[in-house]
Amino acid sequence: MAKEMTLVGSGLLSICIAATALAGGGVALQPKAGDPLLGLTKGQTALFWAGREAYATPFGPETGLGPVMNKSNCQSCHSNPVGGWGSISVTRFGIDNKGEFSPLEELGGSLLQSLAVSDTCREIVPPEATVVASRLTNSSMAFGLIEAIPDAAIAAGEDPLDADGDGISGRVHWVLPLESSPTSPLRAGRFGWKSQVATVLSFSGDATRNEMGITNALIPTETAPNGDMALLGMCDTVADPEDHADAEGFTFLDRVTHFQRYLAQPPQTPRSGMSGELVFNAIGCNACHVAQWTTGSTGGLESAIAGKTIRPYSDFLVHDMGLLADGVQEGDANEQEFRTPTLWNLRTRDPMLHNGLASGGEFADRVAIAINAHGPFGEGAASAAAFAKLGTLQRQQLIAFLDSLGRDEFDFDGNRFIDTTDLKTLAQCRIQGSTNPDDPCAIGDINQDNLVDIADMQGFLLAAQREGLDVTGDCDGDGTVDFVEIFNGAPDLDLDGVPDNCAPACPADLTNDGAVNGADLATMLNNWGTAVADLNGDGTTGGADLAMLLGSWGPC
Ligand code: HEC
Ligand code: HEC
Repeated sequence: MAKEMTLVGSGLLSICIAATALAGGGVALQPKAGDPLLGLTKGQTALFWAGREAYATPFGPETGLGPVMNKSNCQSCHSNPVGGWGSISVTRFGIDNKGEFSPLEELGGSLLQSLAVSDTCREIVPPEATVVASRLTNSSMAFGLIEAIPDAAIAAGEDPLDADGDGISGRVHWVLPLESSPTSPLRAGRFGWKSQVATVLSFSGDATRNEMGITNALIPTETAPNGDMALLGMCDTVADPEDHADAEGFTFLDRVTHFQRYLAQPPQTPRSGMSGELVFNAIGCNACHVAQWTTGSTGGLESAIAGKTIRPYSDFLVHDMGLLADGVQEGDANEQEFRTPTLWNLRTRDPMLHNGLASGGEFADRVAIAINAHGPFGEGAASAAAFAKLGTLQRQQLIAFLDSLGRDEFDFDGNRFIDTTDLKTLAQCRIQGSTNPDDPCAIGDINQDNLVDIADMQGFLLAAQREGLDVTGDCDGDGTVDFVEIFNGAPDLDLDGVPDNCAPACPADLTNDGAVNGADLATMLNNWGTAVADLNGDGTTGGADLAMLLGSWGPC
């Protein structure tokens, strides 16, 4: 049940603290990256958490891990946050046969499994390989929502022959989901660096077998170490398929699919209106990084997923990216082609790009490296050139906009945690008063009315509470919580969330239970002669303190 609480002395402003609390004139806090979608039913929320646990739990050889694999659980690569991107890369290999890529399946390609249950079965990149490419772990944020974008909507953005002559000719990577019958219609791929997968279930089936060596309903046979069936016979001891239904009837595949489908979209703060987005559009970034989509509403989709507007900044099409080519043909996507990645948690990403080329340094450095790598050849060339020509102000505006992608509301210092440092900045923004989306104070203007005021402060309390901070502290017992006092201007130099000059209204209430009573008397007697219950400030607890306590006996 929601807990009612009065936040300011007047009692006029009160808020309801609940999971999907509203703040600042009815605006809901955006979920943090890694949180469940808003609006899930109780049952779906339970599936999310059970799925998250499966996603993070390591398999062992006895439960089917291997014989060759890259890791023992999904989370060890998708770690930032759980279900997100990661800094671990996997290796693809094959041969370049007169410009045609062959995945060397007979030698265990194209994905290398770098670990094995025993040394005998370990895979190596075979000497025959002439193409070796590395691919970074990308993130599964809001995959239920992405999955729910209708194929036709994605296909409507296609321009394979560049009919409009803008140098950009994205096309759909049509694929057959593993769970579909061979005669089913192809689906618009959207997941993976080359849009090589259309459904979350397919990707889960693929990753479960290929990253962890767990055979399952979608891929029931093992991959042999470097294609060697004799080695497989020696090292594979668990009968296939290794993924079984649990007591509730769900397989591991079902579980991790639930989790990824119910992940929320990462936040964007401020939500709209930054000049940098206009720059982004003006130099053609949005020709591929398409901001907004609406999910479909047919096919029995959950109400938390159906008919939602989302802002992933991708067209889900594959594009010829020139020098970023990795030499790997995958399905119908060729050596040069890559899917436009989503940008919605960009500010947290390090490294960036499929090969991790943009890594380390400041965010602005990584982004500049990533954008420069879009040229000089391929479909990103014109926008990379336009970026290089931007003046200082526009460049800063663009970077500031990109830095809003993945930022939590009120996270002024960008450390992905809402605390009293952010409260201090919010209080400074209150004094400043008016703001606009380009101003850093907009990070605290949750209701986007260009004013940082008490309505936004309600949102801050919800955000701080979501982090587990106690927002109810009221050191002087005057009915206005300490955080609001600090917001209103009380100094808190030590950042402990309690005003520095707080004078307790009821100093003899040593137990803070709202009255001076026997409990306080007991506390005083137990600390007689020490400084603990010193009321008159003489450094010790004695008769004068006792007289003060008795003199203020009763409710505070
Ligand atoms: C060894 C590291 C590793 C492990 C373990 C791993 N993944 Fe991945 N994952 C990757 C990489 C690398 C990619 C990019 C693959 C590509 O496109 O070639 C990826 C991509 C994905 C994607 C598509 C993401 C996108 O943005 O399109 C999904 C979904 C996914 N993995 C699910 C899983 C699941 C489920 C598991 C556990 C069963 C898992 N992964 C285990 C490394 C890993
Ligand atoms: C022709 C389509 C296209 C255009 C135009 C384009 N991008 Fe991209 N963008 C891509 C693709 C495809 C990738 C992935 C390339 C790779 O990893 O090899 C990418 C990657 C990125 C990345 C790295 C993301 C990550 O998670 O690794 C950033 C940042 C980015 N683009 C920003 C921009 C900006 C800013 C602009 C405008 C200057 C822009 N892009 C224009 C297609 C495009």
